Amino acid sequence: MKGTAVARANIAFIKYWGNLNDDLRLPMNGSISMTLDRLRTVTTVEFSPALTKDEIEVDGVEPSPGAKGRIVAHLDRLRSLVGESLKARVVSVNDFPTGVGLASSASGFAALTLAAAAALEMGLEDRELSTLARLGSGSATRSIWGGYVEWVAGAKHEDSFASQIAPPEHWEICDCIALVSTDTKEVASSEGHRLAKSSPLYLARLSQVKEDLDRVREAILTRDFESLGSVAEREALSLHAIMMTSQPSLLYWTPATVRVMKEVRNWREEGHYVYFTIDAGPNVHLLTLPSCVEEIERALGKVEGVRQVIVCRPGQGARLIEEHLF
Ligand code: PMV
Repeated sequence: MKGTAVARANIAFIKYWGNLNDDLRLPMNGSISMTLDRLRTVTTVEFSPALTKDEIEVDGVEPSPGAKGRIVAHLDRLRSLVGESLKARVVSVNDFPTGVGLASSASGFAALTLAAAAALEMGLEDRELSTLARLGSGSATRSIWGGYVEWVAGAKHEDSFASQIAPPEHWEICDCIALVSTDTKEVASSEGHRLAKSSPLYLARLSQVKEDLDRVREAILTRDFESLGSVAEREALSLHAIMMTSQPSLLYWTPATVRVMKEVRNWREEGHYVYFTIDAGPNVHLLTLPSCVEEIERALGKVEGVRQVIVCRPGQGARLIEEHLF
């Protein structure tokens, strides 16, 4: 009753922000992302009669009570689906900083769902895994798949899951992540989703999203980088406008975040293929093409306040592996 899975984080071009139903994590709008090859989580889950409670370890330590509670609640959901009562040991390792807005909950809950489902011999299809992963973390629904992925919002649990628009080999977009902070975020995205509707701009954003989804899907299928980048950049600014005008207001940016955003626009003026997008955190993702990536990576490393640059390309979906962590 043991399973190990690897899953990767993703960067959304059209973002998920705000829920129709908080408990079921049913989103108000659909979203589109690219799965990232270099941001990986590996998780082993074992259900055992020797355990009297769930034992959880993430990156070598027991997670905070809140984070642990979320993992145990996810195990409970899976256990209840197959009538299992055995407790589990979960060991999970991320090869990138967690809790800084690099979507560790996406890779984490995708890997946990797949590993636990395998350990429980649930025999689920990717679509069902995507639906279940959503209950752990919304963005995890997309990390079940590799390459370019769309999560269709759906109005009920069974209808809200992601599927692949195109595989990783379809198009090599590079995501140069400028890490400007590795501090744990002050406000978790679950809280941000709850606050979204308090922004007077929220309905305006929702009315724009459908058209943006169509444009980004089309841009991916036709490999139209300028269309993809320009919509993604405006879309990220619209997301942050919601955050800043929520009550209470959320402001994730630091001076270095803004410096990077300004540089991206300068580099674009100079003729480079580069756009930015930002999730619920201060770090900036620079979307570019292989012909520009080395130059962008070098220039980004010189911007004041950028501590590290991680270059990602389209990655594979969640997979089971043979090597267990314990
Ligand atoms: O899955 P969550 O609850 O961590 O929310 C993710 C929110 C964003 O990263 C800002 C957007 C997205 O679609 O990934």
